[in-house]
Amino acid sequence: MKKETVLSGIRPTGYLHLGNYFGAMRNYVKMQDTYNCYFFVANWHSLTTHPDTKALQESVYRVIAENVACGLDPDKVALYVQSDVPEIAELYLYLNMLAYKGELEKTTTFKDKAKLQPDNINAGLLTYPVLMAADILIHRAVKVPVGKDQEQHLEMARNFAERFNFRYGHIFPEPHAFNFGDNLIKIMSLDGNGKMSKSENQMATIFLADEDDIIRKKIMKAKTDSGPTVPNSLKPDYIENLFTLMKIVSKAEVYDTFDEDYNQCNIRYGDFKKQLAEDMVAFIQPIREKAAAIQNDKAALHQMMKQGAEKARESANATLQEVRKAIRMIY
Ligand code: TYM
Repeated sequence: MKKETVLSGIRPTGYLHLGNYFGAMRNYVKMQDTYNCYFFVANWHSLTTHPDTKALQESVYRVIAENVACGLDPDKVALYVQSDVPEIAELYLYLNMLAYKGELEKTTTFKDKAKLQPDNINAGLLTYPVLMAADILIHRAVKVPVGKDQEQHLEMARNFAERFNFRYGHIFPEPHAFNFGDNLIKIMSLDGNGKMSKSENQMATIFLADEDDIIRKKIMKAKTDSGPTVPNSLKPDYIENLFTLMKIVSKAEVYDTFDEDYNQCNIRYGDFKKQLAEDMVAFIQPIREKAAAIQNDKAALHQMMKQGAEKARESANATLQEVRKAIRMIY
């Protein structure tokens, strides 16, 4: 049976964090044996918000290194950099003719970013979801492992695919956001304000490159409260977030003990955070060290990127041939 195709991407706009790991990369690693996988670094997307490219290059290397350190095997998947696959840009151009100004202006991420950078509301920012659709459709991917914040972009990708199919003939399958659980994941910031993010709120975000002491410090400062007063009460979202992190990095019995303490109104957040901090350090330390070693080996990185781009271009080319045929762009 033909394996289903999976695709996902990460922008190299800063250091990767626990949100990226649990929303996306952990799923990549789990999918690499059973699916036909394409994972890439979205450096073109970065230009929509980070026009200064001085830090971009090293950041691209870091994203590749961190993905490999987290368990991605470049021999099993196509791991590549977006700008190494020019076919994506051609598909982006065709899809742009099928995307309407009104719907692009209504996109949540566009509205948020336009507010953050009022002096640079560029056309790339507006058409960000179209480029993302091109990333996905160029490999005719059906499963897209992403965090909750990308849900709307996936819906738009389905719309563009459907419009293309309707107008020019059926080429693209419907892509869907994917997570191994039922729901897409959102890891909140440790101060309880919004999501963990590469560029905002650095002290409330745990990065895969953070040193042990920084991790401890950030977790000890995480937002808590005076604790529940009624047994079995619902956890506020910032507490639930810490429990989510504990579920992922700590042993099941450790999680169960603190969960029971919470339900019995006996939780001591100081002890809870100390335990979480130590388990987090044990989780991140090997990733950080492995990633640093890979990042320093530029020859190996270039070899990985070249191999990934070759695999990606082969698949991208095959789709583009079909697309050109369908829209009669072949003379
Ligand atoms: P980016 O670079 O912002 O994030 C990479 C991945 O990490 C997930 N993520 C989170 N998940 C849970 N909690 C969080 N706090 C959190 N923060 C980030 C994101 O959902 C994402 O899966 N537009 C994309 C990059 C992209 C892409 C694509 C993704 C470009 N083309 C095609 C999939 C398919 C982005 O900005 O991700």
